[in-house]
Order: sequence, then C-alpha cells, then structure tokens
Amino acid sequence: MKKLQITILILLLVGSIQVQAELQFVIEIYRHGARGPLGDWYDAREQKYTYGELTATGQRQHYNLGAQLRKEYSGFLPDSYNHTQIYVRSTDYNRTLMSAASQLQGMFPAGTGDVLPDNLAEQYTLPAFANAQNYLKSNYSLPNNIQVLPIHTQPRVGDKVLSPESNCKNYKQIISEFYKEKQSTVDFINKQFEQTYQQYSKAIYQEVKNFDNQHYLESVFECDRANGRYVPDFTQELKDNSTYLTSLSWNFLFNQPDLLRALNQPFFSSFLEYTDPVVKNNNTSGLKWVMFSAHDTNIQLISAALNFTSIDCLLALRFEEYRKKDQVFYNCEYYPHFTSNIIFELHLSDKPTEENGVKIQQNQYYLKIRRDGKFMKLCDKNSTICSYSEFNQRIQQFMLNFDTVCQNVEQKNQETTQKAEDYSTYYIVGLILQSIIIAGCAFYIFQLLQKQKSLLNFEQFKDIEAAEIRNSQ
Ligand SMILES: *[C@@H]1O[C@H](CO)[C@@H](O)[C@H](O)[C@H]1NC(C)=O
Ligand SMILES: *[C@@H]1O[C@H](CO)[C@@H](O)[C@H](O)[C@H]1NC(C)=O
Ligand SMILES: *[C@@H]1O[C@H](CO)[C@@H](O)[C@H](O)[C@H]1NC(C)=O
Ligand SMILES: *[C@@H]1O[C@H](CO)[C@@H](O)[C@H](O)[C@H]1NC(C)=O
Ligand SMILES: *[C@@H]1O[C@H](CO)[C@@H](O)[C@H](O)[C@H]1NC(C)=O
Ligand SMILES: *[C@@H]1O[C@H](CO)[C@@H](O)[C@H](O)[C@H]1NC(C)=O
Ligand SMILES: *[C@@H]1O[C@H](CO)[C@@H](O)[C@H](O)[C@H]1NC(C)=O
Ligand SMILES: *[C@@H]1O[C@H](CO)[C@@H](O)[C@H](O)[C@H]1NC(C)=O
Repeated sequence: MKKLQITILILLLVGSIQVQAELQFVIEIYRHGARGPLGDWYDAREQKYTYGELTATGQRQHYNLGAQLRKEYSGFLPDSYNHTQIYVRSTDYNRTLMSAASQLQGMFPAGTGDVLPDNLAEQYTLPAFANAQNYLKSNYSLPNNIQVLPIHTQPRVGDKVLSPESNCKNYKQIISEFYKEKQSTVDFINKQFEQTYQQYSKAIYQEVKNFDNQHYLESVFECDRANGRYVPDFTQELKDNSTYLTSLSWNFLFNQPDLLRALNQPFFSSFLEYTDPVVKNNNTSGLKWVMFSAHDTNIQLISAALNFTSIDCLLALRFEEYRKKDQVFYNCEYYPHFTSNIIFELHLSDKPTEENGVKIQQNQYYLKIRRDGKFMKLCDKNSTICSYSEFNQRIQQFMLNFDTVCQNVEQKNQETTQKAEDYSTYYIVGLILQSIIIAGCAFYIFQLLQKQKSLLNFEQFKDIEAAEIRNSQ
C-alpha cells in the first residue's frame, strides 16, 4: 500500500515537473471572493453595510487560491515577486481589487518580501514628514516580510476587455429578443420547476416565479452561506435544482450567439496580444503570468465561448426531449461560484504528445485550459489539449465588430461616414439599403419590446453583477 502511494507520488512529481518544463505562459482570470449580497431577495436588504463588498471569507478564499497556485505552479511562478514576470489587472471594484491583493498574498506569502540594503542608516527609512519615526525594527521592508504587488485597473466605462457588457449599449435589447425567441423553452423550463419555485417561495415569503428569480435568490444564498448567515434548510434535491436553474439563467443572459461572440471579442483579442509574441518566439518582455481579477460575468462569457457550458448541454442533462441524436457535449459546467476561475496554460511540447487521438508534434505550441482547477475538453474533441494554431483559428469566430453588434452608435457612424467617402457609390447604395433595413429592424424590435413589456415575466437584470454595473450607468 505504502509502496503504491510512493509510486503515485513519484509519478505525480515527475508529471508536474514534466508539465512545468513545457509551460511557457499563463493567463488567469477569476471571479472575486465572497461578498455582501446585492439586490433585495431574502435578507439582502438587511446587509446594506456590506453591499457588494469583499467579506472576510472572500479574502480567505482568494488567499487560499493564491497559495494553491503557488504550490501547483512552483518552478514556473517565481518564488518571490519579479516585476517583469507577472502582470495583474483588475476591474475597478473594491471587491475585485481586494481579491487580487488577497490572492497575491497567498501567491507571494509573508517571508518572500523585500529586505533593506545592508547597513542602511535608519535616517533613510524615514518619510518626508515632520517628526517622522521608524516603526519597524527589522531589516524587512514591511512587517513579517510581506510583499505588496502593483494591481492595474481602469474605469468600467471603456474597459471592454473586462466589462464588455457594460460597454454594450444594445445588450438589454438583444437579450430581451433572445428570451422572446426562446419563449417555448423558457416556458418548458418554468413548467418543469413549478414545484421548486413553490418550495423556495414558501421558505422565504417572496414569490419565485422563474429561473431568473431563482438565480438572483441563489446568489443571495451563496453570499449568506459563505458569510456565516442563516439560510433555510433545503433538501439536496432542491439545492441541486437551484444550482441547475441558476446555471440555465446565466446561459440565457449571455448566450445569444452574436452577443456572445461580440462580448468575447475584446478579451480574446487581448489574449492573442499576449500569446502571439510568445508563440512567435518574440518573448522579449519576460512576462509569464497575466492575472485578471474580474466577475462571474467574465467567467460565464469565456466558459460559454469555449463550449464549457451552454443552454443545450444543460437541457440535455435532464430532459430527454432536448437530447439530440449524435450530439455530444464534452463539458457542461454550472454557474461561476465565488473565486471561480479559468487558467489558460500555453505549453511548448518537448516531445510528441497524444491524448485521445489529438496529437501534438515536438516543438509545437498547445493549450490546456482549467476551469476551477479541472482541465476542460477543448476544440470540440474529447481531449484536454489543443494546438495553438487550431485554438487560434477557433477563436477567430469572436473577432466580430464589438461596436456593430452592440450598436455603439457614435463610433459606428464615424466609421461608416469615413468609409462611405472612400468607397464607390455601390457602397453608398448598400449603406442606404442597410440603414433602411436596420431602421426597419429597430422599429420591429421597438414594437416587440413595447408588446413584450407586459409579457415578460422575468425580472430583468435586477441584481446580478452585470446588472448592477449597467443600472448605475
Ligand atoms: C468602495 O469603497 C469606497 C470607500 O470605502 C466606498 O465609498 C464605495 O462605495 C465602495 N464601493 C464601490 C463599488 O466603489
Ligand atoms: C537581516 O537581519 C537578519 C537578522 O536580524 C540577518 O540574519 C540577515 O542577514 C539580515 N539580512 C540582510 C540582507 O541584511
Ligand atoms: C427538481 O427538478 C426536477 C426536474 O429536473 C423536478 O421534476 C422536481 O420536481 C424538482 N424537485 C423539487 C423538489 O422541486
Ligand atoms: C517583436 O516584438 C516587438 C515588440 O513587441 C515588435 O516591435 C516586433 O515587430 C516583433 N517582431 C516580430 C518578428 O514579430
Ligand atoms: C518567455 O519568457 C519567460 C520568462 O522569461 C520564459 O519563462 C519563457 O520560457 C519564454 N518563452 C519563450 C518561448 O521564449
Ligand atoms: C526576473 O525575471 C527576468 C525575466 O525572466 C529575469 O531575467 C531576471 O533575472 C529575474 N530577476 C530576478 C531577481 O530573479
Ligand atoms: C464550440 O462548438 C461549436 C459547435 O460544435 C463549434 O462550431 C465551435 O467551433 C466550438 N468552439 C470552440 C472554441 O471550440
Ligand atoms: C472521452 O474519453 C474518455 C476516456 O478515453 C472516455 O471514458 C469517455 O467516454 C469519452 N467521452 C466521450 C463523450 O466520448
């Protein structure tokens, strides 16, 4: 028994050394840790003082994630902070900024910080301030030899890479249309879960009418459970149903195909800007770990883009009538929990590699991608490896024009005016036709929306994180 354990340990060690030898570059993106609840389901309104802020639990969750990554990527991550190798960017929210700081404390823990130069005269440690003193009697720069790291950020408006949905004017319209288009599926789901809604309604004295309601309620429960607050006892079956419904809701909120592609465009463009130079052997910067501190919306968008989750796979999990012959889903993830993360590993093979029929040549770049630590099946195959060139080709489908899909009109008009001047009259005729069609569509959508206002029973974007961002716009 012991021998077996040792053998496994050795195999694991060799395996991890092997992987580290091939690993070239990592891009990590994650959701912040536990926060105070948003919105007004259940007991959220009693917690206004922590509204949306990272809690004590949230800090610990990210510290633990950082410590785990330090362990799993040791040999790749430097033991102590090296400013050329790691770049950290966060959305401009207290909870994401603090999550990044907490995770970095785990990744570069106390004991790895800076030390003052030998024999430094104390006077040089003093700030420019009347009666200043030295409060730390050791040669560590900071107490307990901790390390602080720079965390870059930019305002939400304009940050298309990390806040695409709040920079997309047309978002609500596209989604309303999508729900309308999917009305029969929406009705089907709500019918199947009537009993679940009833049970939850009874427990919280508020009416849960549909899967979006269930989602917003579940997100308050997730906060409460993590923050040591009381949540009514539900059977495992009811909890599972709530997880399932929340996951469906997430996919409805973002998976309109054009929208999904457009909202993913800024992130994947940025992704390629980091990885292309590495693959082209033009890796002059020395950068090897890029960290994005962000939201559930980001994890959901990327997961849906890479076929880690979808409405179809979720429906097929539970309902015969939604299973299609010969349709295979290699992944089907539930919604992003606190600290949920995606880690893109860019490898360079040092020997020919194969997994379930997918082959990588020696000296070829390939990707492995982890969602919440698990390696996902990639590129529509039953394999966790995908060559960089194929992956790159597949994400070209996201290179739609963000502003066109989102109808960010100002930019679009400027662009088209300029082009119209440059090109032939055919273009102008085309443009006029296009405008007529767009105007027609807009009018149609407008009419539908007017009609729909009374029809739609889902609560629109009331308190998920993306919604909070949009509503304060
Ligand atoms: C962040 O912290 C500041 C200062 O404590 C607070 O005023 C603000 O409401 C917090 N939330 C956001 C989203 O900035
Ligand atoms: C810092 O101080 C400790 C003891 O206080 C000493 O052992 C160590 O050599 C010092 N390090 C430097 C870089 O001065
Ligand atoms: C859980 O979901 C199933 C549908 O998958 C439903 O038939 C069942 O009634 C639900 N259970 C409860 C306790 O609501
Ligand atoms: C290498 O990178 C530098 C700076 O990023 C860029 O100016 C140069 O064109 C690149 N060279 C090649 C061959 O891609
Ligand atoms: C890129 O730079 C990092 C950091 O120096 C290094 O670990 C990595 O091997 C380099 N990759 C390539 C392809 O040169
Ligand atoms: C920091 O990383 C760069 C690029 O990989 C490397 O050249 C340098 O030696 C490292 N610095 C230290 C102090 O390890
Ligand atoms: C996701 O699945 C669809 C349908 O099978 C496929 O067309 C698409 O290329 C896949 N996307 C990726 C990134 O593999
Ligand atoms: C994928 O491969 C694994 C291991 O070879 C196998 O057990 C599994 O059934 C396959 N899954 C699909 C959907 O083909």
